[in-house]
Amino acid sequence: MHNKSRVSRRRVLQMAGVGAVAAAFPFARPAISQGAPLRVGLLLPYSGTFAALGTGITNAMDLYVKQQGGKLAGRTIEWIKVDDESAPPKATELTSKLVQGEKVDVLIGTVHSGVAMAMAKIAREAGLPTLIPNAGANVLTRAQCAKNIFRTSFGNSQPGVAAGLAMIKAGIKTAVTYSWGYAAGEESVAGFKQSFLAGGGKIIKELTLPFPNVEFQAGLAEIASLKPEAVYSFYAGGGALKYMQDYAAAGLKNSVQLWGPGFLTDGVESKVGAAGDGVKTASHYVESLDNAENKKFRADYNAAFKMFPDVYAVQGWDTTMLLDIGLKAAGGDVKKQDAMFKAMREAKFNSPRGPFRLSAAQNPIHNFYLRELKGGENKFLGIAAADVSDPTTGCSLA
Ligand code: PHB
Repeated sequence: MHNKSRVSRRRVLQMAGVGAVAAAFPFARPAISQGAPLRVGLLLPYSGTFAALGTGITNAMDLYVKQQGGKLAGRTIEWIKVDDESAPPKATELTSKLVQGEKVDVLIGTVHSGVAMAMAKIAREAGLPTLIPNAGANVLTRAQCAKNIFRTSFGNSQPGVAAGLAMIKAGIKTAVTYSWGYAAGEESVAGFKQSFLAGGGKIIKELTLPFPNVEFQAGLAEIASLKPEAVYSFYAGGGALKYMQDYAAAGLKNSVQLWGPGFLTDGVESKVGAAGDGVKTASHYVESLDNAENKKFRADYNAAFKMFPDVYAVQGWDTTMLLDIGLKAAGGDVKKQDAMFKAMREAKFNSPRGPFRLSAAQNPIHNFYLRELKGGENKFLGIAAADVSDPTTGCSLA
């Protein structure tokens, strides 16, 4: 009697929850957790100076999943989006809302290094699969690396080191740095200084502005009086657009070369117009890369969104690619972390950016390209540094 009622209850659940296939093959039914949608939390900026960056990442992730028929490893993907506003003070609460409140299976975020550091603290403790599609805070793949945290973008010092090398090669001897004074700007400048000083360059002055301030005039006036050969700047998104416009308006464009990581021009290359002509950057992506993945990605993205993808979209694409690789190895079951994380750690694929693989600290090893903005496009000038790996200093996995 007791047994009978249990069996019939199970059959009812199968019929109601898993449908006709499960009813016909009751013993081949997949675990319920695998049939349910995979809940993917997106902690990204959808407002403020980095809004377009969050949107580019999201668009590319959505495109990837749609191209797979809306599923990864047999699981329907459900995005649960939270606007983090690139505001570090809100980061802990918003991450908890996704992890503990929404009980997401996978966490993806974010753009701003300060927000990412608070997010990663919770992600490490919760142990859920976590992918960082932009934020470069060095510590996330150095001393605070974790086996459940993967970065598909870059470490902040990587583009800085590459730009410094290219500036030395271009014969530049003196520079001023002028950047947002938070982790990303500070670490980008530190990377630049590392290679620029090692190559014999001299830093005349280091100027900063609090994030997300865009009152650049005082610093630009100081640069005009210091007369360095070049300026190295980390700004991004809406702030970078205004910076390049103000730099040109201050009359510096033709007398002091402007350099930076690719973020200075990414996503704003066509909006900045002639004010941006001549800005040189080092990046792990350039529009014209001649590889099959890039050509297809650019055509598909343009068809879907009526605009061309930038580096942020590429990072979103690669994030979903890496997640897909992990999910397939785990048969769609995120609880099978050993299989999932091993496949992600060892993943090697051709990204629109070129060859992609991860370091022992789970940060990309990739090429950095030298680019010059001209006529609304970053032109490829050559490889600034090949196969760049960030130091894994202090990482227990390395
Ligand atoms: C960061 O905060 O790590 C950051 C933000 C925007 C970028 C790059 C890095 O374009």
